[in-house]
Amino acid sequence: MRFSLNVDHVAVLRNARQEMNPDPVTAALLAEQAGVDGIVVHLREDRRHVNERDLRLLRELVTTKLDMEMAAVQEIIDIACDVKPDLVTLVPEKRQELTTEGGINVIDNSKLLKETITQLHGSEIEVSLFIEPDIDSIEAAAEIETDFIEIHTGVFANASSEEEQFDELEKIRLGIKHAKKLGLGVNAGHGLDYNNIKIFKELKDIDEVSIGQAVIARAVFVGLKEAVQEMIRLLNS
Ligand code: PXP
Repeated sequence: MRFSLNVDHVAVLRNARQEMNPDPVTAALLAEQAGVDGIVVHLREDRRHVNERDLRLLRELVTTKLDMEMAAVQEIIDIACDVKPDLVTLVPEKRQELTTEGGINVIDNSKLLKETITQLHGSEIEVSLFIEPDIDSIEAAAEIETDFIEIHTGVFANASSEEEQFDELEKIRLGIKHAKKLGLGVNAGHGLDYNNIKIFKELKDIDEVSIGQAVIARAVFVGLKEAVQEMIRLLNS
């Protein structure tokens, strides 16, 4: 299971004082040296975390894989087609949310998403759709020719009982199986941390996990290299 680090929270800290530090680009390069398989950033319409300068520098400097999360809106699609990240992950975006709150509704938005995927494919960018582990959504995602899905793991991560966690894990397991049968790549993310990853990593056939909050929070105390390597050790143990 590969591990991509989301460095948005480094940008949030920088933006709090509207200064240069800490720089998410520096964080990305240090994380690569520590062994991550990819870097993730979300260019939001409100530029709450990374901005275009960060994105363009990351495109130049990241040597692993750059995954750009974004909403399916034309302004951001144009930027993506110009910058050409290795992967675009399409997510829903609401102005008032603290973080992405759930998967995208593929069924209700299939026309817009299909047009967006066609544009991104036209610029030779692979596309992933951030969705719930739900069979109908997975089928709808395959129909509009996404390359990957990213399964939303927030419900699993926030489960209030072991039973709820187990039920959600089972849903995710079935979702992965179905997606693989349809020929899709499968990523996963949201709310994964140093504890729940021990259970989560037992799932087979996940290509990559995308983790941000837990690792950046830990990095404040132990440093980014150590925080990244602790997660890598857990994923490989
Ligand atoms: N995947 C997606 C699509 C996300 O929006 C986020 C949050 O930015 C993550 C993964 C990472 O979630 P977390 O910060 O909770 O690890």
